[in-house]
Amino acid sequence: MTADFAADFDTVDYFTDQSLVPDPHPYFDHLRSKCPVVREPHYGVLAITGYDEANTVLKDTDTFSSCIAVAGPFPPLPFTPEGDDITDQITAHRPLMPMFEHMVTMDPPDHTDARSLLNRLLTPSRLKENEDFMWRLADECLDDFIGDGKCEFLSAYAKPFSLLVIADLLGVPHEDHDEFRTVLGSPRPGSVVGSLDHESVGSNPLQWLDEKFISYLEDRRATPRNDVLTALATAKYPDGSTPPVLEVARSATFLFAAGQETTTKLLSASLKVLGDRPDIQEALRKDRSRIPIFVEEALRMDAPVKSQFRLAKKNTTVGDMDVPAGTTLMVCPGAVNRDPVRFANPHEFSLDRKNVREHIAFGRGVHSCPGGPLARVEGRVSIERILDRMLDIEIDADKHGPATGRSYSYEPTFILRGLTEINITFTPVA
Ligand code: HEM
Repeated sequence: MTADFAADFDTVDYFTDQSLVPDPHPYFDHLRSKCPVVREPHYGVLAITGYDEANTVLKDTDTFSSCIAVAGPFPPLPFTPEGDDITDQITAHRPLMPMFEHMVTMDPPDHTDARSLLNRLLTPSRLKENEDFMWRLADECLDDFIGDGKCEFLSAYAKPFSLLVIADLLGVPHEDHDEFRTVLGSPRPGSVVGSLDHESVGSNPLQWLDEKFISYLEDRRATPRNDVLTALATAKYPDGSTPPVLEVARSATFLFAAGQETTTKLLSASLKVLGDRPDIQEALRKDRSRIPIFVEEALRMDAPVKSQFRLAKKNTTVGDMDVPAGTTLMVCPGAVNRDPVRFANPHEFSLDRKNVREHIAFGRGVHSCPGGPLARVEGRVSIERILDRMLDIEIDADKHGPATGRSYSYEPTFILRGLTEINITFTPVA
């Protein structure tokens, strides 16, 4: 890195500067080289790029609140932190904070209750049934475009696949799947529902999902059946009480928000590696048992969640840094996953990395991703079927330039890391 770059990185605004979007890693490395816990100059946010420091913060819910988990310093806190312990201020102002109704921003004990509802859903037997569905779904999605010999992979496969996996997990009846595809932005090519305009199914997809699930759950509470939605509708809190329908519906609908975009990003990052690294594609074709490690390494190298935030409830320290109550902390999983103290040759994609599963792409602690096992299976099943049905996968040079100088565009956000499109060519297997 040149001295000029270092100077820029000291003043750049991570949250708004688009120059960091295509490749944030030189910036992350710069921060870590100063200190694994360093205060950025614009919003006073403590950026955490060190592995041990990130684990400490994510596992300590007594000291660090998730109330700002998703968007960090935006909007600013609805109160001015006062004193050594702001726990009561957080409690009093929660309803004014973004996404307060979703488990990702809750702290124990409310978080424990919300998360317990999910445990009814993510049972080993349900996950097994869901995997069976994934194998069929992968082929159905591939059938829609395989004959073309090329595709924009996000819209053709990654988005509809990850959406319908969650729909199936939640027990959404099969006949409603096309409607879900349409409302959530991945209409099936040529489907009748796919031709409906957005207004006719609602303009706010999350609100539409809440209403849809409330109606499913009320129906199942009134008339229980032997299905997944009934299991969800009759789930109880750990103390034996029955949660309001809206709470259960929100647990369900949040899975679409948390699980679809992230998995889409994992799948598209994986295809980019297959296209750009023929040696890795070949290695996986020769030995399919290496696919799970490939998926882990894709998660380590390109963690879909780029920033997770916490608010210090009390005066504390992280590493050598004093952290006053009210400080915003930003854990950057992508940076942490390339901490050379933990991962040798951290910027290299390797199928031989022994400790690859130590990456923190799914977070750590009580909020660690409950969909992690599911996303891993989605990755494994998809790569397996894609390798079966597409030979010679290549990046489409007409769209991304030649191998010597590719151009990719990434979503312009500090929250997630993901390609906006990935165009590939391949030889279909008859
Ligand atoms: C590659 C795919 C995925 C990645 C990288 C990912 C990443 C994460 C991360 C880092 C967190 C922790 C947030 C925090 O601590 O502040 C999280 C939480 C969560 N994820 Fe995922 N996720 C993925 C897929 C999924 C899927 C498929 C689902 C559901 C089916 C899901 C559901 C959730 C939920 C409900 C939470 C909140 C958990 C809590 O607050 O206790 N995720 N995810």
